[in-house]
Amino acid sequence: MYFLIKFIFYIIFLINSILCYDPPPRTYHNSVIINDRLIIIGGDKPVTEVPGGTYELIYLDLSKSFDNTNLSWNLVHEGDLPISTWSSTAIVSLDNSTIFLIGGMFDKNTHDYVSNPVYTYNYLNSKWTKPSITGDSVPIRQRMTGVIDDSGIIYIFGGYNFTTFGEVYNEMNTLDTSSMTWKTLSIINNLPPLSNGYSASILPNGIIVYFGGLDGNVTLAPMKNVSNNLSIIFNSKNATGNDVDSRWLFASVLTPDGHIIIFGGCDLNYISVSPKLAILNTNKSPYEWSIPSSSEINSPPSIYGHTANLYYNYMIITFGYDADTNYVIYNSTVYLYDITNNTWVTRFNPPPPPSPSPSPSTPTSTPSPHSPKFLKPLLIGLGAIGVLICIAIFVFYKKRNEILKIAGSN
Ligand SMILES: *[C@@H]1O[C@H](CO)[C@@H](O)[C@H](O)[C@H]1NC(C)=O
Ligand SMILES: *[C@@H]1O[C@H](CO)[C@@H](O)[C@H](O)[C@H]1NC(C)=O
Ligand SMILES: *[C@@H]1O[C@H](CO)[C@@H](O)[C@H](O)[C@H]1NC(C)=O
Ligand SMILES: *[C@@H]1O[C@H](CO)[C@@H](O)[C@H](O)[C@H]1NC(C)=O
Ligand SMILES: *[C@@H]1O[C@H](CO)[C@@H](O)[C@H](O)[C@H]1NC(C)=O
Ligand SMILES: *[C@@H]1O[C@H](CO)[C@@H](O)[C@H](O)[C@H]1NC(C)=O
Ligand SMILES: *[C@@H]1O[C@H](CO)[C@@H](O)[C@H](O)[C@H]1NC(C)=O
Ligand SMILES: *[C@@H]1O[C@H](CO)[C@@H](O)[C@H](O)[C@H]1NC(C)=O
Ligand SMILES: *[C@@H]1O[C@H](CO)[C@@H](O)[C@H](O)[C@H]1NC(C)=O
Repeated sequence: MYFLIKFIFYIIFLINSILCYDPPPRTYHNSVIINDRLIIIGGDKPVTEVPGGTYELIYLDLSKSFDNTNLSWNLVHEGDLPISTWSSTAIVSLDNSTIFLIGGMFDKNTHDYVSNPVYTYNYLNSKWTKPSITGDSVPIRQRMTGVIDDSGIIYIFGGYNFTTFGEVYNEMNTLDTSSMTWKTLSIINNLPPLSNGYSASILPNGIIVYFGGLDGNVTLAPMKNVSNNLSIIFNSKNATGNDVDSRWLFASVLTPDGHIIIFGGCDLNYISVSPKLAILNTNKSPYEWSIPSSSEINSPPSIYGHTANLYYNYMIITFGYDADTNYVIYNSTVYLYDITNNTWVTRFNPPPPPSPSPSPSTPTSTPSPHSPKFLKPLLIGLGAIGVLICIAIFVFYKKRNEILKIAGSN
């Protein structure tokens, strides 16, 4: 009887552990969105644990509604990275087939820098490979942010050399994802200051906007000092509007209507900065900062080392350190900011399905790779059968015991 209850528990536990994954907290991870998945790559482990980055790949399914306090993370076992990674940059190819992971890679065991700074992840077969890349030799870096233009060229600015504890750069490297060639651009004029932990966004007109971050002399770049225009020549210009504290290790998203929303970050001492959320309007000249007052209501704590992604109406903030309470406390809650009315919300609702097309063509439901979708009903089914069998056995034994008792009393 006791054994049977244990058995049932075990089955239910097994089902749950397969279906849901409780990811450990992390910081300095990467996040990208491919189709309807928010994919998290690696990250640094809490300082209380064994040092070194993680190497797992997890995702949130954005095709379903969820509450930010009740998340269903999925672990892609076969997506485990060959290296551990933190403070790297991850860029999705134009056709969503490949993730380019650049810099910030360490040996899983020795925690030494991995000298090849690029790995690619094939979204369709969940495989990591080390591509061969020609061209200029490109150094290993951390805390840089790459962007990809509409011809498939990735731009990586500056970054930090972890092994020298502080060497910061301000060169511009490009990776052509079709020819797989590195190039170091020769920028002569208006080179922006050395920087790491900054924000980079590419506007539809091809201008890349950089701001924030820490320079080589351990000072923070003023948020109103915006570097842009990448026609090999950088232009620096001053933004106007509300004052926004200088910061690094913050996160940003670019909205379709040309606003860069930043959240979080910290100062040199990893203390929170103000305001937590601000918006840079790139449609104005000069660019203009504003702080929506509604963004201060129900705001998440000040966090840094997190990431932000835009999907449909939501800026989705994942993981990071909580700077408000204690800088070593992690907060693994996901925060949702509705960009349509500038409010923090707790519920995610996916975009409505596209209106049915008049053509009778069958919807191309490409089976998503390694989707546990088919697994879920199967396992629930198996679990239910298991439970039923257990009950049957239990009932059978009870009846048998009764019969035996009756037989015994006779
Ligand atoms: C890639 O995924 C993003 C995020 O869902 C989506 O907006 C975009 O249309 C996709 N691109 C392609 C080429 O499928
Ligand atoms: C959490 O979400 C799952 C579906 O993902 C749902 O079945 C469950 O009821 C939710 N739990 C709570 C407490 O809302
Ligand atoms: C980073 O620092 C290490 C140790 O000083 C050095 O060997 C390496 O060349 C540096 N990397 C770059 C890209 O400068
Ligand atoms: C850092 O300080 C040195 C010495 O004052 C100066 O030469 C250098 O230009 C500074 N670098 C930056 C990025 O401000
Ligand atoms: C970029 O900078 C160059 C040189 O300063 C200038 O000629 C060009 O008009 C700028 N482009 C944009 C889109 O601002
Ligand atoms: C931006 O900052 C750099 C370095 O601090 C400085 O040289 C440059 O003049 C600034 N640009 C503007 C527009 O203030
Ligand atoms: C930007 O602002 C700084 C400080 O207020 C000033 O020194 C600099 O000249 C300004 N640059 C431009 C391009 O307006
Ligand atoms: C994370 O933040 C929420 C508030 O947004 C708070 O309730 C929770 O206690 C925090 N968790 C940790 C571990 O700091
Ligand atoms: C903002 O929009 C969301 C839904 O998109 C809604 O739940 C929320 O109540 C709205 N907030 C305000 C203040 O209008």
